[in-house]
Amino acid sequence: MPRTSSVLRAAASGVAALGAVGLGCVAYAGLYEVNAYRLRRVEVPVLPAGSPALRVLHISDLHLTPWNRARQQWVSRLAALEPDLVIDTGDNLAHTDAVPFVVASLGRLLDVPGVYVWGSNDYYAPTFKNPVLYLTRPSRQPKPRPEQLPWPDLGRAFKEAGWVELTDTRATLEVNGVRIGFRGTDDAHLNQDHYAAVAGRVERSELDVAIGVTHAPYRRVIDAMTADGHDLIVAGHTHGGQICVPFYGALVTNCDLDVARVKGLSSNRVGGHTSALHVSAGLGTSPYAPIRFACPPEATLMTLTAKPR
Ligand SMILES: [Fe+2]
Repeated sequence: MPRTSSVLRAAASGVAALGAVGLGCVAYAGLYEVNAYRLRRVEVPVLPAGSPALRVLHISDLHLTPWNRARQQWVSRLAALEPDLVIDTGDNLAHTDAVPFVVASLGRLLDVPGVYVWGSNDYYAPTFKNPVLYLTRPSRQPKPRPEQLPWPDLGRAFKEAGWVELTDTRATLEVNGVRIGFRGTDDAHLNQDHYAAVAGRVERSELDVAIGVTHAPYRRVIDAMTADGHDLIVAGHTHGGQICVPFYGALVTNCDLDVARVKGLSSNRVGGHTSALHVSAGLGTSPYAPIRFACPPEATLMTLTAKPR
């Protein structure tokens, strides 16, 4: 009997220790890391020889609420980077009153040329989802819901600032003398992407670099962009896996992209074509899951440079 009780005592202290570690991790993830913003810097050699370098700020997945002052303040400091171009890959909103806070946070970035697409969390207000299910499979494709967020108001503010919407649309911008051809889609996570509306081989005589922009990097979208000859594809949505394993990485991408490419700069190959792929881990989270672990929130300053000769 004495031996049995000592085994039970050891087991109980083991469970208590595990519980304490678990609580510590949740506290760290929700009180510290969710606001531990980082600026990722990458160099992407996609411009023709002789082109000047372009500084492109990629922001994504703000999921902004009026009360998230830490995120607003960090984003408001990004203008000091003085980028040449801003690419916003969606999920800006997390509250019906968030539009003026997004506009104020972006601040002087709205004076810079910009392009954007929408994500599901621009269209629809966030709802509670079991966070355990997020780690086991892609979140259910949200059905259209009546509670829409005021994304048309945000779109008006973006357009008044001169930013260009790329929802199932092509556009060309000349930035610092570099002709950039953009093609974008609506959100593939909602099955609202219509790449066919913008499809076709990239015509090199009309532009210097081709960039595909989409919210959720589903294979059907990024593969079609690569097959058409895009130099760079820019996306968000994955949150970098959001709750990751230290020294291992992400467990999920919340779409059909492999976890090795859940965030940062990688490449996408289709047949004989290769595109650079940049996926942002994003700046925010759903207000119903305000934690990040081993996956800090981020924006990225991409420096586009000339391809090696
Ligand atoms: Fe998101």
